[in-house]
Amino acid sequence: MIRLSDSPAGLDRAAALLRAGKLVAFPTETVYGLGADAGNPEAVAAIFRAKGRPADHPVIVHLPSVDVLPQWAADIPDSARRLAGMFWPGPLTLVLRRARGVPDAITGGQDTVGLRVPGNPVALALLRAFGGALAAPSANRFGHISPTTADHVEQEFGDEVAAVVDGGRCSVGVESTILDLTGDRPRLLRPGMIRVDALEAELGEPLVRIRDEDGPRASGRLSSHYAPRARLELVAGDALDARRLACIRAGESVVVLSRRVSPPAAEGSSWIEMPRQPVQFARALYADLRRADEGRPDRILVELPPESPGWEAISDRLRRAAANDRLQD
Ligand code: TXA
Ligand code: MG
Repeated sequence: MIRLSDSPAGLDRAAALLRAGKLVAFPTETVYGLGADAGNPEAVAAIFRAKGRPADHPVIVHLPSVDVLPQWAADIPDSARRLAGMFWPGPLTLVLRRARGVPDAITGGQDTVGLRVPGNPVALALLRAFGGALAAPSANRFGHISPTTADHVEQEFGDEVAAVVDGGRCSVGVESTILDLTGDRPRLLRPGMIRVDALEAELGEPLVRIRDEDGPRASGRLSSHYAPRARLELVAGDALDARRLACIRAGESVVVLSRRVSPPAAEGSSWIEMPRQPVQFARALYADLRRADEGRPDRILVELPPESPGWEAISDRLRRAAANDRLQD
């Protein structure tokens, strides 16, 4: 995998590779994406092969600006225009009716398409250098933790992907909010770091939160998603230390991720102190989960996040990671 800088020369090189149908990972404000020319079905098919992702899962299309929205979406509702005006460029994906000509490879055969203008300057500069739209799921293998640095991308794919543009660490750190605007009511398919109350204020109506069983296919909604290899368990803050000691007594190695200050060290365990504010916590989360997983512990204990609105995306990802209580190889 070639590591490209975010200089104009690096971005031109990345754009040339994309035009040639190659895969290029790039930073967005949420997580790194595994990019391909969205207008080239063969290049998009290569994304699915690299990720090991089923072909009927749709991928998000990243646009250089809202101006090209009509090339990708049809029957665009006013609500989409309002949300785009308010939150783009930014970590919001809108699911809309697809325009004629949007390849099945992108939509997984559905008649809708997920679109966003990313809020990362390197992503926007790459989209401009490329001069088109980029299909990009998170740049991780299917079911793994999303990458928030170029190093993470390299750990996931090695030489199977042509290049990664290094834009440093992602500022948001968890995937975009996904809103489906194709029905009678707006539906939240995946919470992100834009708060639900801010979206509802802009929409002027409440969002429908959908349960995992219904709604369109969205791999981010499989409960086994976002999982580290070790078993991950969510534990209330005041029970954390006792649970840690119980694991150690049972002969397990444990890593704890907590907003609390580390208690005295205990052999067989380590303690990662997490930020206390949700924005900073989200930014750190995936890198810290990878770090925790690297030592191949038997178990990762994560302190239950608060139930307040700013923590919704974090709770969602942690619950999904915890639901997968088998090791993933
Ligand atoms: O923050 C993000 O959204 C990142 C960055 C790279 O933009 N991308 C990302 O992509 O998380 P991915 O493919 O890992 O997750 C996108 C989710 C998937 O669960 C996919 O199924 C869903 O979006 N999705 C895409 N198009 C859709 C559609 N037409 N209908 C329903 N869900 C859709
Ligand atoms: Mg993903």
